[in-house]
Amino acid sequence: MKIIDSPIQIQPELVALKRQGKKIGLIPTMGNLHKGHTSLFEIARKHCDILVGSIFVNPMQFGANEDLDKYPRTLQDDIEKLEAINVDYLFTPTEKIIYPQGTQINTSVEVNRLTKRLCGESRPTHFKGVSTVVNILFNILQPDVVVFGKKDYQQYLVLCAMVKDLFLPIEVLGGEIVREKNGLAMSSRNKFLTSSEKEKASELRKILLFYAEKIKQGDRRYGAIRLEAIETLNSKSFNIDYFEICNIYDLERANIRDKKILIAVAAWMGKPRLLDNIEVNLSS
Ligand code: PAJ
Repeated sequence: MKIIDSPIQIQPELVALKRQGKKIGLIPTMGNLHKGHTSLFEIARKHCDILVGSIFVNPMQFGANEDLDKYPRTLQDDIEKLEAINVDYLFTPTEKIIYPQGTQINTSVEVNRLTKRLCGESRPTHFKGVSTVVNILFNILQPDVVVFGKKDYQQYLVLCAMVKDLFLPIEVLGGEIVREKNGLAMSSRNKFLTSSEKEKASELRKILLFYAEKIKQGDRRYGAIRLEAIETLNSKSFNIDYFEICNIYDLERANIRDKKILIAVAAWMGKPRLLDNIEVNLSS
């Protein structure tokens, strides 16, 4: 695996490969890799010739009181994991390279739809940071295909919207959520859970499954379900950010005619804020 931190070094290499007809697949990450990340490389592998990963803990997507400083940085370990699955290139730029003028005054990319609800409500500048850095990575690395995880379903939809709205010549694929044995969605932030919190956190998945089943059985009292779920989560030591039953396309609250639903939840368990969701298909 070639590890390169300089855009002016990696870009001509990838462009030369593209000229030879090779398809470039990119998985952008913030490192501290786990099986959720590596699953995305396995999906991309089937759609490209050259596998590229990037690791960049993007300051622009963290709010002032968030965990940028504490975000786990484990580059050596990450390199070993990517080498083990035969990734071809790893791009590891520094903050100075990506934001030479700092994160405040550079040009930004903002997706206006989809970003106001769910995570956008408690993290109002988050998606602007994500879409800006992903656009920068796209411009440097020129991928033909990219894969994002559906654990961050809203991020996946926002980035699909960015690619569509800006006519970027990139195919975007979504990867299913990879979970721990107890059902907890894998996340770099799970290491901040104590072992008893980890056990309690597995309830998140169980509650999603329970309400997905209720909705499949015909319960359409979405408002009431939402309140009931929040109460249950509160009683199980979660500190809720949101629990929402949405139309899967625009993330607005679902109405009884919607056929494709996303139940999405964000909640703190101790220190980390956990995200999870489940898709519910009601079309017969
Ligand atoms: P990061 O949290 O490192 O995640 C990188 C990619 O891995 C994202 O597409 C995320 O959805 C996916 N992912 C994380 N956990 C997963 C799991 N358990 N199952 C499946 N996929 C999972 O998301 C980001 O970084 C950043 O916002 C980024 C897109 C890199 C922009 O900075």
